[in-house]
Amino acid sequence: MTAKLILGKEVSEEIYGELRQRIDALKARGVTPGLAVVLVGEDPASQVYVRKKGEMCESLGMKSVTVRMPAETTQEELMAKVDELNNDPTIHGFLVQLPLPSHLDEEQVINAISPSKDVDCFHPTNVGRVLIGNPDFLPATPAGVQQMIIRSGIETSGKHVVVIGRSNIVGKPMAAMMLQRGLGADSTVTVVHSRTKDLPSITRQADILIVAIGKPRFVTPDMVKDGAVVIDVGTNRIEDPTHPKGSRLVGDVDFEAVKDKVSAITPVPGGVGPMTICMLMANAVKAAERASERC
Ligand code: GUN
Repeated sequence: MTAKLILGKEVSEEIYGELRQRIDALKARGVTPGLAVVLVGEDPASQVYVRKKGEMCESLGMKSVTVRMPAETTQEELMAKVDELNNDPTIHGFLVQLPLPSHLDEEQVINAISPSKDVDCFHPTNVGRVLIGNPDFLPATPAGVQQMIIRSGIETSGKHVVVIGRSNIVGKPMAAMMLQRGLGADSTVTVVHSRTKDLPSITRQADILIVAIGKPRFVTPDMVKDGAVVIDVGTNRIEDPTHPKGSRLVGDVDFEAVKDKVSAITPVPGGVGPMTICMLMANAVKAAERASERC
């Protein structure tokens, strides 16, 4: 079987085209969507993510603000910045890049972000709204996965979706979203994780297997049903002396071994990766639209 490759670049380009139209419509009404990203400290991976978010904002014609705070920032200083952004009418959405330096309380920070500006969809109010099926925002990575499935014409209604991984950022909201009524959902959902007994016997039942467990090449062909759809959310850097950098990115799925067995699959890199920033931008545009409706 030759698997269809589901490419995040292609799907995200389609969505960016739609977002550009919505941004133009907002600007025609005098509203420039504004997104702020707060970065505390100098974590190298976070610096790359934050730079990419800012660049994407600007390329879409949105207002982009990057707030850089030193690693020694106190909880009070960070809470004051959150308060300032909550009250800034030119900033429609913002996020505080995680992880924070260990002396800072992430939960207190997330809880302080106004739910109407919480474009990460990390605030308990927004997480709860996703669970009850009345969301304001959707968390970026699960929303990106769902858009890839919908826009690739993959039927989800009545299908068995198995999610590997139970994180708050991907596994849990992904399962909640696939369980809802509606397009790209209506699935029968099973979540498996590191403590699941005989995990392969469950993953082999999946029509759609969504993998977010954070273990390089964890999913092997014996864990996948013939003709299944496999979505790989993992990004793991592994040592590879044959590569110029001495390392390379691999997913949570053994792509080369699995690809001939499945009907569709996302590669790593080039699969889910580009979707996360895209859906963050979609949330920022939505936040600006909601704010302009309130005016
Ligand atoms: N760190 C890694 N991914 C994310 C994300 O999606 N949002 C935030 N705030 N921090 C992150």
